[in-house]
Amino acid sequence: MSDNNIKELINAAIKARKNAYTPYSDFKVGAALLTADGDIIRGCNVENAAYSPSICAERTAISAAIACGHKNFTAIAVVGGKDELADNCYPCGVCRQTLTEFCPPDFPIIIAQSPENYKIMTLSELLPHSFSSENL
Ligand code: THU
Repeated sequence: MSDNNIKELINAAIKARKNAYTPYSDFKVGAALLTADGDIIRGCNVENAAYSPSICAERTAISAAIACGHKNFTAIAVVGGKDELADNCYPCGVCRQTLTEFCPPDFPIIIAQSPENYKIMTLSELLPHSFSSENL
């Protein structure tokens, strides 16, 4: 991935974060998934008064991408925070497992605070010894 691709993906995640529906936590997360054919699919967290139906930004993006017919992904960018993007927002455990269903162990996860300030970790770094279809 080029530096421009990475910045574009982070900017898409920042844009998605603005649509987050978070009346309960006020913690807004945006995700942007780059598909193998070059599309960028955005996701944001969507909370619910009953709490458990709430869904994270990363899973929203994966579900939207699958619904659009995508199955192969190149990278995902994630941004999150309350008022600003002051801290790294790492995907939760459920999102790590969901990514494992569709992405290989070396899949890059871009954890960003801005297009200039980010780190890239692989899925297997975030979820080592994962359980996947290969275990069945
Ligand atoms: N959240 C995400 O959207 N992604 C994560 O990986 C971490 C947590 C959301 C869920 C909830 O709406 C809010 O952040 C606070 O937990």
